[in-house]
Amino acid sequence: MSKQVILCVDDEVIVLDALKEQIQQGMQDEYLVEVAEGAEEALEIFNELIEEGLEVPLIIADFIMPGMKGDALLQKFHEYNASSKKILLTGQASIEGIGNAINKADLYRFISKPWEKEDLILTLKEALKSYDQEKTIFSQNEELRELNANLEKKVDQRTRELKELNATKDKFFSIIAHDLKNPFNTLMGFTELLLGNLDDYSTEKIHEFIGILHETSRTSYALLENLLEWSRSQTGNLLLEPETISLSMLVKENILLLNNNAARKGVQLINNVPEGTFAYADINMTKTVIRNLISNAIKYTEEEGSISCTATKSGDMIEVGISDTGIGIKPENLQKLFRIDVNFSTRGTADEGGTGLGLILCREFILKNGGDIWAESELGKGSTFKFTLPVSS
Ligand SMILES: Nc1ncnc2c1ncn2[C@@H]1O[C@H](COP(=O)(O)OP(=O)(O)O)[C@@H](O)[C@H]1O
Ligand SMILES: [Mg+2]
Repeated sequence: MSKQVILCVDDEVIVLDALKEQIQQGMQDEYLVEVAEGAEEALEIFNELIEEGLEVPLIIADFIMPGMKGDALLQKFHEYNASSKKILLTGQASIEGIGNAINKADLYRFISKPWEKEDLILTLKEALKSYDQEKTIFSQNEELRELNANLEKKVDQRTRELKELNATKDKFFSIIAHDLKNPFNTLMGFTELLLGNLDDYSTEKIHEFIGILHETSRTSYALLENLLEWSRSQTGNLLLEPETISLSMLVKENILLLNNNAARKGVQLINNVPEGTFAYADINMTKTVIRNLISNAIKYTEEEGSISCTATKSGDMIEVGISDTGIGIKPENLQKLFRIDVNFSTRGTADEGGTGLGLILCREFILKNGGDIWAESELGKGSTFKFTLPVSS
């Protein structure tokens, strides 16, 4: 580290010479001593020193000088560098000047001329010690402030994680307690009726009941599928294995799977994803996302409606859209989608129930694959759910 500088200002060369010699001797050459014969020169030297990256912990200025006086000079220094210690040399003590320097330049001491060498050195040593201590305290404070800010950030992050964890746990329990229990009541109730009255029921009635049983087992299986995948991803047991996948193939597969369901509601499924649209993503997660979005589209679309799937490349991402001509979503409900901390689920156009888990799962899987997911909708006209995935290069 380069030496620190003590700057001495006096209009009398004899005084400057004496100061320099005594300081160098008294401080064992630990500091560089710079001298100036007036305020202007002192300011120039000071600026040069600072530009060179040198530290000036101490400034000693004569009080009575032609031009700018000592107290005004020290005040200027104080504006540049408040941490430097300032000492005023006074011939004829002027209480007013000293008071001025104390108030405006945070004067450390004043020394009357002529001075005793021992006194001078003692005062300078004390001033420099105090400068060093303040500097240490300042940097420790800075460190503390930084530590504190980091800690606060960590606490915020943990709080967020805990809240999310809590919401996840609540969601699990509520799904198991309600959404998974209800279909069992239906299954048990209707099978009991069938068992007890099979001989009395008409073929149509039996047909109707079996239809209900089938529909109930189908939807609860879909829920179970989501729940299992979600629990796997929550316990960290779901590995992300990205590979090149054909989106047109995945959409085609899902349409085949859900076509019966759509046909029953009189809804048409259209695949407009160009062949040869390849994304780089986990195939199972992407399947789950597409399955959920098409299921939802069917669920919230009335008879004679249609659902179309599209994909367009934009930069290094592919944007997939699943649009329906269904009932749409109220603007105030749009921001409730995809959120674990908000319980949002409405019944379908054929009174299908739900849990509000599907979109949460979709979001989690899409984010894991480096994409984004969102919804656009107009009430009464339809909705479009869009997600992006990295393009396969
Ligand atoms: N295509 C859509 N059209 C209208 N509303 C939708 C659509 N998709 C999702 N929603 C709304 O978002 C909610 C959450 O969807 P989701 O997470 O799949 O849960 P669930 O289907 O179990 O209710 C739905 O209950 C519904 O209100
Ligand atoms: Mg759903």
